[in-house]
Amino acid sequence: MTTMTASIAGFTFEDILLNAAGVYCQTTEELDQILTAPGAGSLVTKSATPAERAGNPGVRYADMPLGSINSMGLPNLSLDYYLDYAIAHQDEKPLFLSIAGLTKADNLQMLHEIQDSDFNGLVELNLSCPNVPGKPQTGYDFDTTRQILEETFAFFKKPLGVKLPPYFDIAHFDMIAAVLNDFPLAFVNTINSIGNGLMVDPETDTAMIAPKGGFGGLGGAIAKPTALANVRGLRQRLNAGIKVIGTGGVQNGRDVYDLVLCGADLVSVGTTLHQEGPEVFNRLKAELAEQMKLKGYDDVNQFRSALQTLN
Ligand code: DOR
Repeated sequence: MTTMTASIAGFTFEDILLNAAGVYCQTTEELDQILTAPGAGSLVTKSATPAERAGNPGVRYADMPLGSINSMGLPNLSLDYYLDYAIAHQDEKPLFLSIAGLTKADNLQMLHEIQDSDFNGLVELNLSCPNVPGKPQTGYDFDTTRQILEETFAFFKKPLGVKLPPYFDIAHFDMIAAVLNDFPLAFVNTINSIGNGLMVDPETDTAMIAPKGGFGGLGGAIAKPTALANVRGLRQRLNAGIKVIGTGGVQNGRDVYDLVLCGADLVSVGTTLHQEGPEVFNRLKAELAEQMKLKGYDDVNQFRSALQTLN
């Protein structure tokens, strides 16, 4: 018997895998498939805005051997749509409701609505969407991040975490951790896509996606080392009470293992879920079990955060 459970804010997750926000979670049909997928311990809904949004026009997602590039621009069916879904299904599994206001006022308005609702799951505040023209990623602005969290925790009492952009400098790990450690966060989710990459179609010499002149968020294999570094860097710096959801570069069970080894409590899957559909969770779960058996583990808690370094 292999144990792959985790707990966040008093919720027990029977499996550590879930979708990454944005992938397979836009409609109730997609959400139902994740909810019932063998091997998935939870789901997160598409990052919501107060009103429905169409997102960016044109080709806005492309797959390459290195990974994916997207500039979706937050297409979603509104907070009310996802809140209704989450309330209807919250007794089946612990669920994450993701929100991504384009302004602080939008975020606070949505958080008030969630606070006043019957939703009793976890909220993921997305501070890291790279794809809305003219809107920088809030997670790169440490003062604004602090300000939002101060105003949020003045009234918000449900379990809350933040979705972070990738950081690339040790000083920035220190700076974001110093902000986050001042708040009663339940978790961080790291990383969102690596913002504003550019991929070229060699057949036509054109950018792979249309919005923003081809600039978009990178995910998949190319993101794995950055994801591992961010999971590890934040796990080392955050208060023990703040759990870590690792996202980025999961293609196989060893990738899941590596994120746990670097400190992830849960692991979410984006690009590979987009490619394979919800059957991916059971495959990854079986491959993780194989990896654990090879190493002599029967519980993910035996190797979580246990990365060794060379001296
Ligand atoms: O890569 C991303 N794409 N990250 C987000 O947070 C939002 C999404 C989109 O809708 O553009």
